[in-house]
Amino acid sequence: MYAFLLPLHNILRWLLLIAALFAVGRALWGWLARKPWQALDDRAGMIFTTVMDVQVLVGLLLYVVFSPIMQTAFQNFGGAMSNPTMRFFAVEHILMMIVALALAHIGRAQSRKAPEALSKHRRAAIWFGIALLVVLLAIPWPFSGVPRPLWRGF
Ligand code: HEM
Repeated sequence: MYAFLLPLHNILRWLLLIAALFAVGRALWGWLARKPWQALDDRAGMIFTTVMDVQVLVGLLLYVVFSPIMQTAFQNFGGAMSNPTMRFFAVEHILMMIVALALAHIGRAQSRKAPEALSKHRRAAIWFGIALLVVLLAIPWPFSGVPRPLWRGF
């Protein structure tokens, strides 16, 4: 299962980034160019939050059940904090990604609730934009302190 979930989690990251860029791009364009709110704007937010939900679910499965890093970390959680890789996955990665998930869902709810097109676009652009930023900061890029590959095949 681990051999399936780890590449899935890796590849879903790209789907998530594409969905996030599309949602943020449309919201910014709609806000700055004062476009009407269209069905595709709503769908962009829906796709972004759904891919995020799926990615968090896969992450949780890795975290709680399948990841050998987490199995080692859970044996001595306090001790794991002195290992940068374990601390990253045990605390930093999960916390930041859950904050990003909350920001994305708040953004979708806020933009749907807003009374007119301009504030719908503005709210989506700001909340989704910050969510995307947090995701980008919490990904273990190859050039980060916790280097992981850009792509992993099944
Ligand atoms: C939602 C946005 C998320 C993104 C974009 C993301 C992205 C990534 C990436 C790119 C990796 C490296 C995969 C590889 O080595 O090929 C990774 C590893 C990992 N992620 Fe996430 N992740 C997210 C959320 C989460 C969440 C919410 C959790 C925990 C609940 C989580 C738990 C893990 C764990 C435990 C690993 C390490 C697995 C291992 O090497 O054994 N992720 N994540």
